[in-house]
Amino acid sequence: MEKKDIDWANLGFGYMKTDKRFVANFKDGAWDDGQLISDDTVTISECACVLQYAQTCFEGMKAYTTEDGRIVIFRPDLNAQRMEDSCKRLEMPVFPKEQFVDAVVQTVKANAAYVPPFGSGATLYIRPYMFGSNAVIGVKPADEYQFRVFTTPVGPYFKGGAKPIVIRVSDFDRAAPHGTGHIKAGLNYAMSLHAIVDAHEKGFSENMYLDAGTRTKVEETGGANFIFITKDGKVVTPKSDSILPSITRRSILYVAEHYLGLEVEEREVFFDEVKDFAECGLCGTAAVISPVGKIDDHGKEICFPSGMDEMGPVTKKLYDTLTGIQMGHLEAPEGWIKEVVID
Ligand code: PLP
Ligand code: COI
Repeated sequence: MEKKDIDWANLGFGYMKTDKRFVANFKDGAWDDGQLISDDTVTISECACVLQYAQTCFEGMKAYTTEDGRIVIFRPDLNAQRMEDSCKRLEMPVFPKEQFVDAVVQTVKANAAYVPPFGSGATLYIRPYMFGSNAVIGVKPADEYQFRVFTTPVGPYFKGGAKPIVIRVSDFDRAAPHGTGHIKAGLNYAMSLHAIVDAHEKGFSENMYLDAGTRTKVEETGGANFIFITKDGKVVTPKSDSILPSITRRSILYVAEHYLGLEVEEREVFFDEVKDFAECGLCGTAAVISPVGKIDDHGKEICFPSGMDEMGPVTKKLYDTLTGIQMGHLEAPEGWIKEVVID
């Protein structure tokens, strides 16, 4: 299979149309088998529930080319489970987990020419999503849904790749207590758009959201969870019911403990203690592990000892181990890697 002629090394995190996408429809209480199609457009009612009441959720994962040329996907079963959780909270029908993984594999296989080569610094981002498609004018869930999967080759989420970024403490809230912060609902991202545009205008790469109830505890950013490293080398990550349970973060905690022998703590993290950490990073599928060098709290700066030039040493070890597993040159824990066999 010949790869597309793409300048892989200079890709940003953007959308590029690829050849095929998977589409399945839910009607009369059941999903059809779904199929790969070429049309990248969607035609739905002007009154579709997704357009009026934002009934939509999505997932994000990546496919990688390993050093020996295989194509692998990182933990798609966990994305399938999280999408099930999102669907249940949004009164949407569940797309069965096995079929979810199969649809993802089919879509990657059909777009194998777009999976960036090993060592290029790019990956194939996979975006499954679902939305209520029939007309709904009273506030209620749709009866008909579409589940789709598309792919797009991507580079680093933050410009500069592994260079430390500067973020700010946001005055906006991301998720209410008992709200939808723990699921991957489109509405969580719609309400973060003003905050991210404002942050970018002021020169910050992301927003640090605090808990909406007390504004004393660290939650997450618009698109990633936090990890902190203490001065004695422990990995600490915020525990909260209103943050997205990041698959990257869960994998990092496992790797820290079982591959690197580090102590890990998942607990409430008060903003007051952030100044005492040695390193800080954002973790997620898109972000991988992006080091944070500085946090701006309304003009007061928290500067991590790891500085603005490179990742801190513990963050780097975590990054190398996690990406080593994803790219196939470190042995993965059982069940973490799904190979896409190209025939
Ligand atoms: N938090 C938010 C709000 C996100 O959008 C994402 C991205 O998926 C994450 C965290 C990271 O989750 P994951 O590691 O599963 O990609
Ligand atoms: C991901 O990391 O997959 C995400 O969904 C983050 C997104 C905001 C780009």
